[in-house]
Amino acid sequence: MKVLFAGDIVGSYGCEFAEKEIRRIKSEEKIDIIIANGENSSDGNGITRQSFETVSRFSDVITTGNHSFRRREFYDCFDEYDTLLRPANYPDGVAGKGICVIDKGAYSLAVVNIMGTALMQPLDNPFTVIDNVLKDIGTKNILIDIHAECTSEKKAMGLYLDGRVSAVIGTHTHVQTADEIVLPKGTAYITDAGMTGTENSALGVKAENVIEKFRFNTPVKFEEARGLRIFNAVIIDIDEKTGRSRSIKRIYTRESR
Ligand SMILES: [Fe+2]
Ligand SMILES: [Fe+2]
Repeated sequence: MKVLFAGDIVGSYGCEFAEKEIRRIKSEEKIDIIIANGENSSDGNGITRQSFETVSRFSDVITTGNHSFRRREFYDCFDEYDTLLRPANYPDGVAGKGICVIDKGAYSLAVVNIMGTALMQPLDNPFTVIDNVLKDIGTKNILIDIHAECTSEKKAMGLYLDGRVSAVIGTHTHVQTADEIVLPKGTAYITDAGMTGTENSALGVKAENVIEKFRFNTPVKFEEARGLRIFNAVIIDIDEKTGRSRSIKRIYTRESR
């Protein structure tokens, strides 16, 4: 089974380029399942019904993270859509869920979204929560999106789950890391899959907004940058009989003029 995982997609402008790239790569690489992190898919950050529907046009499952509930009006929708995830380590009672299973007939893939807690919101301990989540999964094919700031926390999660899941993919920093690896017991890993959005920007946001924020520490409205875009993803090849990964490949494409 070949799975394409796209890192954080920024705004409608990022969605447009992600869709174009994913459609092309899907046929070139014969991709079976597409997963995308959509926590920044709406213009002005977060995810809305409109941006959810846009990302759903080209992906099977949408993961999120610290911006899951940025849009109050979309909060209840997390209970409405089976293919929309928020981190599994939110406390009980929060809308939505952190896991979904895609049934492809001959095999299935469980997708789990979890968030780190180092330098982030103090959710439940992701290591304890993931142990509990894994107890109830009935397939060997499992992909984890760990949405976290701290590289060491993500790597620790990858090593902790080596041999127990097919892939541990980091998101949130919007910067693709070059450390993709199949760990010794068969788990594909990368610290961050990267982002899709304008390259000449700070994580997809206009440079002047972010510079002002860091210079003055005053409230600034972030707007998505416009310019030539990048598309960041990974392709994981999973042996669906064993749940082990054969390979993980980084994708980093640039829009041409
Ligand atoms: Fe993000
Ligand atoms: Fe994030």
